[in-house]
Amino acid sequence: MDGTDCRIPRPRECVADVIVALDYPSADEALTMVERLGPPATFYKVGLELYTRGGPSFVESLATLGKRVFLDLKLHDIPNTVAGAVRSASALGVDLLTVHTAGGPAMLEAAADASGRQMRVLGVTLLTSLTPDELEVVWGREIRSIREEVGRLTDLAVACDLDGVVASALEASWIRNRVEHDFLVVTPGIRREGADPGDQRRVATPADAVSAGADYLVIGRPITRADDPVAALTALLAELSEGGPSEA
Ligand code: C5P
Repeated sequence: MDGTDCRIPRPRECVADVIVALDYPSADEALTMVERLGPPATFYKVGLELYTRGGPSFVESLATLGKRVFLDLKLHDIPNTVAGAVRSASALGVDLLTVHTAGGPAMLEAAADASGRQMRVLGVTLLTSLTPDELEVVWGREIRSIREEVGRLTDLAVACDLDGVVASALEASWIRNRVEHDFLVVTPGIRREGADPGDQRRVATPADAVSAGADYLVIGRPITRADDPVAALTALLAELSEGGPSEA
């Protein structure tokens, strides 16, 4: 399987949804952005920084506004504790929740069992910040290829009944080909053609990420730090629905 091809065409109806990443230190700042973006933004990512400050009440405020929530807590603990946290997230009305696949089969199965009917649990395979040298320090063995490890952990997520994984666009088509059944691929690191990648090392345009098989695109600064966030979101959504860059 060729792991480098992220341009495999997908049917038109497979247009991905945008999840706006709310990387803010306070609930007030995040809610200001949610109000500013208004109805076109329907799905938000809440990560560790915001959840540690804003907590469940922030997630509930999003749900009250009719927004869907991707709670990116990357849970990693003993199975009983993770199952409890998964139930709590489900009770809050969260739609997508992350757990570390490195937590192992029992933890992943417990997470999948506890998720309930509405919420979907995604596996984080390897943090993109980790280098092969660091992995060798952590795991105490030779790392021949990051992709091989991502593949192994994706297979584990599938075997333990998780609903999908978080993966860069460069890995999305490869995962899409590797996993035959319905399996979500949620992709960060999105930048429009020619945009500043910032600290992201492996970026893809929205159209390329969709072509690669991403179901959801997680996009933060290109929207939230834009001079006009509403215009930036509108341009991204237009690019997605038209399958190519818009002029906006
Ligand atoms: O601002 P930007 O569009 O780069 O934000 C992307 C979001 O996706 C951030 O919330 C970031 O934490 C998250 N993310 C990522 N790369 C990963 C996993 C998550 O950028 N490998």
